[in-house]
This record gives sequence, C-alpha cells and structure tokens, in this order.
Amino acid sequence: MTEAELNRDYGKLFKPLQVILCGGINMGIKLFNQRILTMVVLFAVALIVAAVLTSLTRLKHNESKPSEAYGFVKLPSPDVIGRMSVEEAIQRRRSIRSYADKPLSLQDVSQLMWAAQGITDPARGFRAAPSAGATYPLEVYLVVGENGVTGLDEGLYRYDPYEHQLESILKGDLRSSLAEAALDQGWVREAPVNIVIAAVYERTTGRYGERGIRYVHMEVGHVGQNLYLQATARGLGMVVIGAFKDDQVQSLLKLPYEQKPLYIIPVGYPRS
Ligand SMILES: Cc1cc2nc3c(=O)[nH]c(=O)nc-3n(C[C@H](O)[C@H](O)[C@H](O)COP(=O)(O)O)c2cc1C
Repeated sequence: MTEAELNRDYGKLFKPLQVILCGGINMGIKLFNQRILTMVVLFAVALIVAAVLTSLTRLKHNESKPSEAYGFVKLPSPDVIGRMSVEEAIQRRRSIRSYADKPLSLQDVSQLMWAAQGITDPARGFRAAPSAGATYPLEVYLVVGENGVTGLDEGLYRYDPYEHQLESILKGDLRSSLAEAALDQGWVREAPVNIVIAAVYERTTGRYGERGIRYVHMEVGHVGQNLYLQATARGLGMVVIGAFKDDQVQSLLKLPYEQKPLYIIPVGYPRS
C-alpha cells in the first residue's frame, strides 16, 4: 500500500469522527451560549418586572414627585427600644409651645419620621400609623430652620418611607412665612423644625368614596398622637396646629395641587 493510499484510508476513518467531534463541540458552545443568553434575558426581565412593580406601588399611593429636588438625605435607622414606657409617655405628653435654642439630631428626625409614617412591616408595606385599607393618603414634610438639625441645611424636605430618607425640595428658612400662614403663631417661627402633614384625599376616597374623607382625618390624628408620644419619649416638645391658611401653606411649600395640608407641628427641645 502506497503512502497516498494509506492517508486516504485514514482520511476515510477520521473524517466522520472529525465531523462528529466538531459538530459536538459546536453544539456544546451554542447550547452554552444559549444558556447564558437565556439567563441574561431572564435576569433583564426580572429587573424590568421589579422596576414596574415598584413604580406601580408608588403610583398606587399617587406619589407626586416634587418638581424641584436637590437630592436625598439617608436617615439613620430608628431605635425600636426607647428609654420611656408608653404609659409614661401618655402620662407626660403635653402640647409644648416654647423651645430651647438647641438643634435636633438626625436621629431625632429619624425617630419622628418613623413614628409618623415609617414602614414597620416591610413584607406588607404597613406603616407605624393605621390607614383605612392601607391606602396611605398622608405625605410628611419637614421644614428645617437655620441650625434646626445638626447635619441638615435649612429648607423643606419630604419624607420617603420606602427608603427612610428625606428628599430635599426647597432651600432656605421658611419658618417666618409658615408662621404668618399659621395666623402668626410664634411657636412655628421659634421651633427648630416644623413637621407638615398633607393629605392626598383621592388615595382613600378612590376606594371608599365620600366616607374616605373622614378616614383621612382620623388617620392624621393617629399620626399626630404617634408623634406626640415619640417626641415625649425622646425629651422633645411639640404641638399640633390646625389653625392656618391652607392656600398660603400650599403655595409656600409648593405642594402639588392634590396634596392638602392638615397639620403644622412645631417640634423642639422644651425651654426649661
Ligand atoms: C385638631 C387640633 C388642632 C389644634 N390646633 C392648635 C393650634 O392651631 N394652635 C395651638 O397652639 N394648639 C392647637 N392644638 C393643641 C390644643 O390646643 C391642645 O391639645 C389643648 O390645649 C390641650 O393641651 P394638651 O395637648 O397639652 O393636652 C390643636 C389640637 C388639635 C387636636
């Protein structure tokens, strides 16, 4: 047998093996690529679904984003074990209208925001204060005066319960104008901070009709009491204020049209 014939015979033997081997490797690579591709596609779909669900949840609560926003301030985690029993806080609670020249800490602000609207059951999204049908119609704002909070510039902030953070909305000390809108109640001007609670009635009336209006008013009462007890337990003083000019507060704070202010709450360390 010549060398040429030998090579031809080996060629006959190896060709099918070569085809099978190469085909197998090619298919393996394709399958591997397809797997990766499938995983990437699934991951992307999961991300899109998560993003859509988050926006839907926020949309459900009709969260209107303010037009001007300057960034976010992450709040420290709230303490869930305090120094005062709930009984003692109820006994001691009083409306306080005179404040020491002492700033609040970021931890004080964190506790107050959490007591008002913090998420206490993340699995179900339930909050510190009860809400008819968990419709959560209330928005919480913080008006910070000059040197009102250590580590926070003066201005208006909106509390974001989902991230437990403040969103900076307006710059500057708004307390004097807020006090004017509150029939010149001096404690609004003097307090280092004022909490403003506004309601989006449609979130609740959308489910309960006219009756939803009374539910919203009951809810703001719950939030007010949570704040009173939390403030007392931390040695802070506050007073809920219902007497103010709605339109003036709404335009001063540039609240979206559907948000109606219900309470202004000056808070500070009591003047001893
Ligand atoms: C709905 C509501 C509106 C209020 N509005 C004002 C107000 O505009 N200005 C004020 O100084 N106090 C206001 N208060 C506080 C009451 O005057 C105070 O709760 C009352 O005098 C009893 O005192 P106490 O809270 O220390 O028990 C209001 C309280 C409630 C419940």
